[in-house]
Amino acid sequence: MTHPSSSPIYRAGIIGCGRIADTIEAEAATGPSWALLPYSHAGAYQRCARTILVAAADPNEERRTLLGRRRGVERLYADYREMLDRERIDIVSICVPTRAHAAVAIDVAGRGVRGIYLEKPIAQSLREADAMIAAFDRHGTAVAVNHMRTWDPLYGRVRELIATGAVGALRTIMAHVREGVLFGGTHLYDLLRFLVGAEPEWVFGELHGAPGLHEPGARGIIGFPAGVRAYVDGAADDPTPLELDITGTEGRIRIGNGTYPEWFRLDRGGGRPVLTRRGFPGMHDGRSGMLRAVEDLVAAIEGGQAPASSATDARADLEIAVAFALSHRSGGRVTIPVSDLDLTIEDPWGRDP
Ligand SMILES: NC(=O)c1ccc[n+]([C@@H]2O[C@H](COP(=O)([O-])OP(=O)(O)OC[C@H]3O[C@@H](n4cnc5c(N)ncnc54)[C@H](O)[C@@H]3O)[C@@H](O)[C@H]2O)c1
Repeated sequence: MTHPSSSPIYRAGIIGCGRIADTIEAEAATGPSWALLPYSHAGAYQRCARTILVAAADPNEERRTLLGRRRGVERLYADYREMLDRERIDIVSICVPTRAHAAVAIDVAGRGVRGIYLEKPIAQSLREADAMIAAFDRHGTAVAVNHMRTWDPLYGRVRELIATGAVGALRTIMAHVREGVLFGGTHLYDLLRFLVGAEPEWVFGELHGAPGLHEPGARGIIGFPAGVRAYVDGAADDPTPLELDITGTEGRIRIGNGTYPEWFRLDRGGGRPVLTRRGFPGMHDGRSGMLRAVEDLVAAIEGGQAPASSATDARADLEIAVAFALSHRSGGRVTIPVSDLDLTIEDPWGRDP
């Protein structure tokens, strides 16, 4: 990308020097997936033409030193507050465990940074999420939440195909995801809302999994307007990584972490209509979802519009997870919006210092 030489460069700092901040990139680079790089916060800032990674903070010395060495960052702090006091930071990545998101994000917003790139899920309860959004609004902080598929050019192309009638009238999305109702779940819920282009009306389902090992997963149905239904198998032990089978009245799209995208269209030319494979349209210029997220955050800082996965989107994603938990408890269908703001789903992922 080219930018006018007058475009400002934003100074970025990272809070929490663990996996998503940095080392996940090695997994993405060597693992079996279609992941485009950069795939970490550090990598995205280092690749983006409009940002420079200047500092990082983590009370864990070993992890912050490792990030510093791997990324060539010398300004390393045990306390993020000291980092923000001493460095001129425009954009802050919050990569601490989810249980600490609310406290850190509300504090950081109050310290006057211009943008926050926050890890998902936004929080463990809607009450926490609301307090965070109120703080972001109060301080005018632009916030992107890292549901990276929402920026991924591949899923952008799928959304375009659906919106332009490539599968006819959208009917059903069969979805797999694993790794918990929050951890993997909000990735899926954000993507479903993005692809359907509407907010869900209700959720009916159950929690399922192995408490103590991981947070429970979720299985059930998400009801969208116009009769569109998402059937979710997100059990914590579902062996299938994120995968979608999208069907409409005239066709079908299959896509997922390890699935080459396929598009089929109903051919009504002969006697019996048959699904016929179509060439999946060209989809990207090599810029990953996380790189695009940082670019979108810069655009949000400069233009005032919300990024593709905003804090409000992330709250809506969390609300679907909460609705699964409430449906599990009541055995019935849960209407969105839910009224229980205090239901807390504990996310055990991520290490304390
Ligand atoms: N978007 C994704 O695909 C994705 C993938 C992995 C993790 N995540 C999310 O990222 C977050 C972190 O997960 P992770 O796997 O990188 O965890 P991790 O354990 O690898 O890293 C978390 C780091 O935060 C540090 N930390 C904790 N409290 C802190 C504080 N108050 N100040 C500074 N540092 C602090 C810990 O010492 C640790 O080094 C979680 O919210 C998780 O859900 C998202």
